[in-house]
Amino acid sequence: MNINKSFPGTILIAFSLCVNAATAQTIIPIQTANTAVVLQVTGQKDLNTIYLGKKLDNNADYNQLPAVYKEPNDYNVMFNSAYTPSGSRNLLEPAITVTHADGNNSLDLKYVSHATTKVSDDVSLLTVQLKDPIYNFEVTLYYKSYYKENVIEQWSVVRHQEKGSVVLQKFASANLNLKAHNYWLRQYHGDWAKEMRPEETQLTHGIKTLDSKLGTRANLFMPSVVMVSLDKPATEDEGQVLYGALEWSGNFRTDFEVDPKDNLRIISGINNYASPYQLKPNTDFTTPAFVYTFSDKGKGEASRNMQSWARNYKLLDGKGTRLTLLNNWESTYFDFNEQKLAGLLKDTKNLGVDLFLLDDGWFGNQYPRNDDHAGLGDWQENRKKLPNGIASIAKEAQNDGVKFGIWIEPEMVNPKSTLYSKHPDWVVKQANRDEYYFRNQLVLDLSNPQVQDFVYHVVDSLFIKDPALAYIKWDCNAVIYNAYSSHLKHDQSQFYVDYVRGLYNVLQRIRGKYPQVPMMLCSGGGGRVDYGALQYFTEYWPSDNTDPLERIFIQWEYSYFYPAIASANHVTDWGKQPLKYRVDAAMMGKMGFDIVIGKLGANDLKFCQDAVATYNQIRPIVWQGDQYRLSDPREESVASVMYVNTDKTSAIMFNYLVNNRYDEGSKGPILLKGLDPSKKYSVKEINLYPGSNSNVKSGQIFSGDFLMKIGFNPEVNSGSSSVIIQLNERK
Ligand code: DGJ
Repeated sequence: MNINKSFPGTILIAFSLCVNAATAQTIIPIQTANTAVVLQVTGQKDLNTIYLGKKLDNNADYNQLPAVYKEPNDYNVMFNSAYTPSGSRNLLEPAITVTHADGNNSLDLKYVSHATTKVSDDVSLLTVQLKDPIYNFEVTLYYKSYYKENVIEQWSVVRHQEKGSVVLQKFASANLNLKAHNYWLRQYHGDWAKEMRPEETQLTHGIKTLDSKLGTRANLFMPSVVMVSLDKPATEDEGQVLYGALEWSGNFRTDFEVDPKDNLRIISGINNYASPYQLKPNTDFTTPAFVYTFSDKGKGEASRNMQSWARNYKLLDGKGTRLTLLNNWESTYFDFNEQKLAGLLKDTKNLGVDLFLLDDGWFGNQYPRNDDHAGLGDWQENRKKLPNGIASIAKEAQNDGVKFGIWIEPEMVNPKSTLYSKHPDWVVKQANRDEYYFRNQLVLDLSNPQVQDFVYHVVDSLFIKDPALAYIKWDCNAVIYNAYSSHLKHDQSQFYVDYVRGLYNVLQRIRGKYPQVPMMLCSGGGGRVDYGALQYFTEYWPSDNTDPLERIFIQWEYSYFYPAIASANHVTDWGKQPLKYRVDAAMMGKMGFDIVIGKLGANDLKFCQDAVATYNQIRPIVWQGDQYRLSDPREESVASVMYVNTDKTSAIMFNYLVNNRYDEGSKGPILLKGLDPSKKYSVKEINLYPGSNSNVKSGQIFSGDFLMKIGFNPEVNSGSSSVIIQLNERK
């Protein structure tokens, strides 16, 4: 076999064409720098996954996998199907279930062909064509592999030429198969202000399903991100672990099935709950991608894989910069006017951040938005609060030398609004049932193209009023009750899917016209954080809970899956921690402020101003560097996280006391990671409060080897509860 090792994509093409004549099977490996997913086409043309794990050194060895993993009692030879059809031979959870045009529920899928396209030096796309031998029904499986990042995205496209619509009863994006002795699932749950609470358990035989049925704000109780460790729970630096997430901003469903052969099947996709989808002939149904990465070196490497993939390929402007800001939500709530805003613009300048972000409450006249009971949907400036409109604030901002951004929640409507009275048919509700509200509001029907148009124009008109508009915070506070679309009439079962597609249509249109403007993905906190949405957004709001102690835990968990540049962290008055602690916690991501600057004492103000300047220097390392979690707040009294730039010449280590019991603190050195052992580093504390002295002796120089084998004590204690250490190479 002719294998050219310098071009990863060519290995794949050359090898995938190799047919093992003895057993009449084709082996199709999908490889990244460290990982392989290996597909097998059997003699009977079934497509199975025979391996997912650490890549083998020699491609030819993949041929021997089927013999090693032979499963003599696999009754139907399809427990490890790459995309399990149902109603024919399957005995386990299917990836796809359909009702054909003639009412028959059976489906079988046989391999037809496959092809690989090399998208770039880094990215390859494998497509595998499957077809039912009886029905004119096809599925194409897509495997997009990111070589350097060790990430794979998988999705499917369903299509048919039957004599009427086929009903898709279940339509997963991916059907993975893992082999180990046992499996440990780390999953998340939460609620408002309690996002990303982890639970880790061993999976038992049978099926465990994680899902959401909320429609919008779909991650309020559960995000789709998961990690599965093989054989034992992975640690930061050890163990085999797979991270996965569905790129979808609506109802999702992920099934984990430990099968009778002790293998783990992971089937993830749009939730089929209340969604049997009618697919017309010759129409594509494209599922969202399920993205995953595998590491045999623990959670840290898996995170860095995911984070660099996000920055390089998925997150909008992932390699760019971000704007620091002052937000007025917690300092004014709905109570502001032009004069107050003029003061806040001056505060923005004085603080030294880039932008002023005007939050909720600026709109509505017949139903003024003076609290959260009225006005949503009426996106005209409130004449009392802003008699001269947004344009005049934007102009004032320009005069003050700061940028201007604005909050919207364009998918929503208060019953007390002119929009609701004019267009009741645009609202998701059941005409003959009581209305149920979530934060006193209802959801607009984004499956309706007219509503999509409306939402697009909410955004577009802001740019018409202020062409220099520099930032949008896009909120989404309600879940869907009484799911019903007047627009879809008799096709209600499409509603949940078409809502999200409608949302993406709008976002695509917005990005077509305004490709780069930063937008924050917010959902009453972190109710909508997923890579489906993040391709249109530059950052997300992890939680309304900005108590910095809570944020250490929340940001820690998000960091497994998302890069720091996307985490919008604001300094607020939540919590009992000192201002320095609050600022230090916000610096571990994209920093903003939401406090009353005018009420800060002289030292506090000076500290914040200096912190903004310090942050401007270190932010390239936090945003684009490699992240290493050093000390876990769930296990230790001190949480510690570090970021190292790509050439390993600079690093920032953030340390926080998370246990306020007597005499707690960093009792000894914490091991650093990711440095160059042969380099020498100067170590100093930065971001000190005015007038305070560092407990860390200045001018110390250590080798990277020392710092990674012996460690460094950041001297965290109750008197110095957060400490930021800067390391710079000393030549
Ligand atoms: C919920 C968001 O999470 C908050 O930051 C704020 O924007 C409010 N909505 C405004 O209503």
